[in-house]
Amino acid sequence: MNQIVKRDQLIKEWIYVAADISRTSFEQTINIEEKTNRTDLVTSIDKEIEQYFIEKIATHFPNERVLGEEGSGHQITDLKGVVWIIDPIDGTLNFVKQKNDFAIMISVYENGIGYLGYIYDVMKDELYSAVKNQGACLNEIPLKKVKDIPLREGLVAVSHRLMSSEKNDEARKIGRASSGVRMVGSAGLETARVATGRLVAYIGASLAPWDIGAGKVISEELGLIYTQLNGEKIDMLHYNKTIVATPSAHKEIIEKFKLDKEG
Ligand code: IPD
Ligand code: CA
Ligand code: CA
Repeated sequence: MNQIVKRDQLIKEWIYVAADISRTSFEQTINIEEKTNRTDLVTSIDKEIEQYFIEKIATHFPNERVLGEEGSGHQITDLKGVVWIIDPIDGTLNFVKQKNDFAIMISVYENGIGYLGYIYDVMKDELYSAVKNQGACLNEIPLKKVKDIPLREGLVAVSHRLMSSEKNDEARKIGRASSGVRMVGSAGLETARVATGRLVAYIGASLAPWDIGAGKVISEELGLIYTQLNGEKIDMLHYNKTIVATPSAHKEIIEKFKLDKEG
């Protein structure tokens, strides 16, 4: 990927402007709509931030494509060339109901490989960033590679959908095998917690490329493993059941899910 340093600087500038848009909105009346159901919301701020990023990318990198959650980017059916992946607000339910625990996420992929990843915890002012093969940082301070803590010694995060599912007991089994379950409601922030060793794993029921893109780049730089729950590599064009975890916890969780499927 060319112009890595320039891209990195620009993205950080844009993220801070977008964060201001999200914070300022707390004093305004915003529009909130249901997408597929009452727990799947989109606000006028999600749309405004996505639009802001798309305009910036079009100005600085006019030949590159954008995959944005709210659909104002391009129709992406392949990952050829440079593709920017945007989740303008990750944790929109938290944004609406808690005004806390939401993130702005951007990543840049080239021919399917992630080169840059950013997760910004707006209310904590914590910017997680990574450049492929150059490590990851939190507010510009390099993060250490994570310790390979096993499942029984660590906390895990599981998505709401998986935990509350009546059909399977897999997530609860993983919870019992761990030190405890924590739920935040933002795939990005849960991945950031694995990346900083506060969780040993995060399991997502059905994550889209924009939920995954940034966290995958950041966590892989820190020695974590990010795959589908069946162990296969992530499909960056579709929804995935996901796991990001320390190597030991990853192996153990995949085994448990496999046994469940076989038995
Ligand atoms: C959602 C959050 C949530 C996860 C969902 C995602 P959104 O993203 O990350 O924690 O469980 O699968 O869709 O819709 O708030 O950007
Ligand atoms: Ca999201
Ligand atoms: Ca979102």
